Amino acid sequence: MNVRKKTVLLTFVLFAIALIIIVAVSQTIILSGFENLEKADTVTQVGRANDALNREVSGLDTLVLNNAAWDDTYKFIQNNNTAYIIDNVNDQTFIAANLTFEVFINSLGQMVFEKTFPAHNISANMLYNEIWTQFPTDSNLWNLQNTDNFTTGIININGSLFILASRPILTNNYAGPVKGVLIMGRELSTYMLTSLEEQTHLQIQITALNQKDAPPNSNQLNLVKVKVENNSVVVGSQVLDDINGNPCSVMNVYLQRNIYQQGMGTVNTFTLMIIVSFLSFAGTSLFVLDKALLSRIFNVTKSVQEVTRKDNIGSRVTVKNSKWASKNDEISVLLLNINHMLDKIEEITCRLNKSERFSAIGQLAVMVAHDLRNPLQGINIAADFLSREDQSNLEKKKRMLDLIKLDVRYCDKIINDLLDYSREPKINPKKTGIRSIIEAALSHLKVPENIHVNNLAIDDPKINVDSLMIQRVFENLIKNAIDAMPSGGALAIKTEPIKNNMHISIEDTGVGIPDDAMQKLFTPLYTTKAKGMGFGLPICKRIIEAHKGIINVKSVLGKGTKFTIELPF
Ligand SMILES: Nc1ncnc2c1ncn2[C@@H]1O[C@H](COP(=O)(O)OP(=O)(O)OP(=O)(O)O)[C@@H](O)[C@H]1O
Ligand SMILES: [Mg+2]
Repeated sequence: MNVRKKTVLLTFVLFAIALIIIVAVSQTIILSGFENLEKADTVTQVGRANDALNREVSGLDTLVLNNAAWDDTYKFIQNNNTAYIIDNVNDQTFIAANLTFEVFINSLGQMVFEKTFPAHNISANMLYNEIWTQFPTDSNLWNLQNTDNFTTGIININGSLFILASRPILTNNYAGPVKGVLIMGRELSTYMLTSLEEQTHLQIQITALNQKDAPPNSNQLNLVKVKVENNSVVVGSQVLDDINGNPCSVMNVYLQRNIYQQGMGTVNTFTLMIIVSFLSFAGTSLFVLDKALLSRIFNVTKSVQEVTRKDNIGSRVTVKNSKWASKNDEISVLLLNINHMLDKIEEITCRLNKSERFSAIGQLAVMVAHDLRNPLQGINIAADFLSREDQSNLEKKKRMLDLIKLDVRYCDKIINDLLDYSREPKINPKKTGIRSIIEAALSHLKVPENIHVNNLAIDDPKINVDSLMIQRVFENLIKNAIDAMPSGGALAIKTEPIKNNMHISIEDTGVGIPDDAMQKLFTPLYTTKAKGMGFGLPICKRIIEAHKGIINVKSVLGKGTKFTIELPF
């Protein structure tokens, strides 16, 4: 994985981890804040429901007070007159005041009169009996010694809940002595619950507690318990005491989780905002990092690879100018230093090549001396013959002159190659068509009839070269190809413009080059030919490199060889 991909991956992994942590922490903090708010609100709403219930109780208390502190009642408790009952404790008053029971107790604790209406799950008769078990003689309901004493609250009678109020029976002007107690009870019915719900706009449920359901720890009393039913409903529960201070019922208030939903909405929006800002931040950071650093490192690496691939001593690392690049930053300095290093390498290589060449020339002097001896001997013999023999033998005389000509040409080639290799190639480039150069090279060569030449080279686009020098290159390459096909074959010459270079290939179907010879091809004096000097390919390489080009070779033994030249336009 390259640096660019690694950085992108690392950045996203780090950003993802940071994002997960931030989202998790913020969700916990924000949501727990909203949950606390919901808890506090639930407690408040249960309080409101409680207040509404208390209002019902005090309404009943007011009714009891109005009836208990009344001269007529004061008289009735003492003389038990029927007219009072007919006028004031009849069915209509019960229905109008929504009463379930009404009890008159005298100051001796004896029941003077009672009236009960059936309630939910309990008949009037049963209710009457239960009231007497619930209200024993010493009940605090009628130990009302003081004129301003009173009792109000809830009572659980055989599983049915009632609100109740008791007041001492007094005269019209609230004066004693207390002659008895008036108790009124109202069933905590569905009707009353509906009224409570209408007042509070809450969903309220009040259920009677069995003795075994009563919370064991009295500390739990009056505490509001908040329980989450599901994602949309939360319940606040409070245990309610009866008139004796014992737990008798549970009030449940069901609330929509609006606060929690609001919290969730806020958390989701917040999370989305964090994700979007993180992504844009990561994206922007990567973009800037890529432009200012990564892509430049990538381009420098690519350019260095290109230079290595080209195998051309004159190539340099080039990276396009970018507005993100500063001339003084490390990458720009690195680029300069690489090119500086390549300059040095080129300089040293040239020096080495020069000394290599001089040493080759030294070896060559020995070879040239040896190689020149043969043609010179030939010339000597021919000259001897011409000076001594009968000049009338014209045919022999012509043969001798041809021999002299051939040997002189051979000597000339040896000397030219030596000169070409020993001096620096000075090029004089002009825009020229490559096909014309190849045709000129072919015209200087004698192609045997059993070799088919397929010249597919084209003149356009023209290249900027020293045509005579490039012609020498092709002459040598084509001559080598011809030499490699002693029993005939095919020679294909093609050109193809690719990017900024003209690619020229010369492919033969000859004997091919063995692997161990491939290394030595471009070194001077390597030859497998009797009359070869081994200077052809080294000279070709020097000429091509002088044009800032590249020469390469591929060969399959027994099948053929392909030389490729790349020359810049
Ligand atoms: N197309 C080819 N097919 C097979 N072998 C080749 C080919 N081209 C070159 N060679 C091998 O490379 C050697 C070196 O070639 P190079 O042109 O440098 O020298 P040469 O042809 O032997 O002598 P000269 O100095 O006359 O050119 C050749 O002797 C030959 O063995
Ligand atoms: Mg050659």
